[in-house]
Amino acid sequence: MATDTNTSLRHGILSDELREDRQHLIEMLTKAYWMEVETVMSYLANSINPEGVRAQEIIESLEQDIQEELGHARQYGERIKELYGVVPGSTDFQAEQSYLQPPDDQIDVVHVIKGVIEAETGAIEHYNLIIEKTEGVDPVTNDMVISILRDEEGHRRLFEGYLREYEAEGRA
Ligand SMILES: [Fe+2]
Ligand SMILES: [Fe+2]
Repeated sequence: MATDTNTSLRHGILSDELREDRQHLIEMLTKAYWMEVETVMSYLANSINPEGVRAQEIIESLEQDIQEELGHARQYGERIKELYGVVPGSTDFQAEQSYLQPPDDQIDVVHVIKGVIEAETGAIEHYNLIIEKTEGVDPVTNDMVISILRDEEGHRRLFEGYLREYEAEGRA
């Protein structure tokens, strides 16, 4: 017997009607999740390897970023779950950050700075796509990613400043 009450949603990203959008969104969020996880790995290594007096600032900055990127990974994972997706396991992971591998010489801090800028740029580009995709479709994800985007723009800006300093000294 039909009743007025049922448990399926009629509006929003969790509705049956938007199942396909939801699937596509989960794929985009999964990519974002892996970007964050790989960034944690890369920043961890690059917060330990650099040597020299000048490296200290970069090390401390990356140590702080690691915590933020881990928080972003968690937010993406939680949103994937809320959208009825499953956070993937480690065997699904594929590395992409060739530019953030340890440099030949561990005093080469400029290599690390440029690698960080590249990682942040990639994140900013992908997150802008998610924001566009969720506009008017999934305000919760939209809002979450806008706030993460702000963090990444801040990270990128900070490392651009470091690079400027090295360039001004003719070291980059
Ligand atoms: Fe991040
Ligand atoms: Fe970042």
